[in-house]
Amino acid sequence: MKLKKCMPIAIALLSVSLFSTTTMAASAQDQVPAAAKSVTNPVDAEIDMKTVKKKLYKRCKNCHGKKGDGKTAAAKDMDVKPPNWATGSDLTDGELYWLIMNGSKDTEMVGYENHKKKKKRLNAEEAWTLVHYIRAFAK
Ligand code: HEC
Repeated sequence: MKLKKCMPIAIALLSVSLFSTTTMAASAQDQVPAAAKSVTNPVDAEIDMKTVKKKLYKRCKNCHGKKGDGKTAAAKDMDVKPPNWATGSDLTDGELYWLIMNGSKDTEMVGYENHKKKKKRLNAEEAWTLVHYIRAFAK
């Protein structure tokens, strides 16, 4: 094939790959505003694990799992899977907090600050407490 004839194919391939990268959902982390990333956890790390599990983490367990590894029945049908916290998290405390409160766009992860079910909503202290709880999965 002559080079000239290859050009339209090359251009088509290139635009397909560009298109797919630009339309790919942003990673959870990328959605967090810069200022929110470095906010530190104001809640004391000595949390009562049993109470948090019963009162707060029950909202999350169905998707994130008892061990926080994200290997749940609910996750099977999801395009974007829940993370595995059992092996640690690269996210900062500020990022974890922001995503708990605001959710991750175009995924099953909804924000808990203004959750449509009022009973499920979390206040700042509760969400920061869950950040400690998430970290504890890797310990
Ligand atoms: C309906 C399923 C579902 C529920 C319920 C849910 N999550 Fe998620 N969560 C997800 C999915 C899926 C992702 C992955 C989103 C992504 O990667 O963009 C996620 C991502 C996250 C993240 C950011 C990603 C990371 O690496 O840590 C945090 C933090 C998080 N969830 C915390 C929670 C907490 C805390 C609760 C309970 C208050 C909760 N989630 C409830 C499905 C859920």
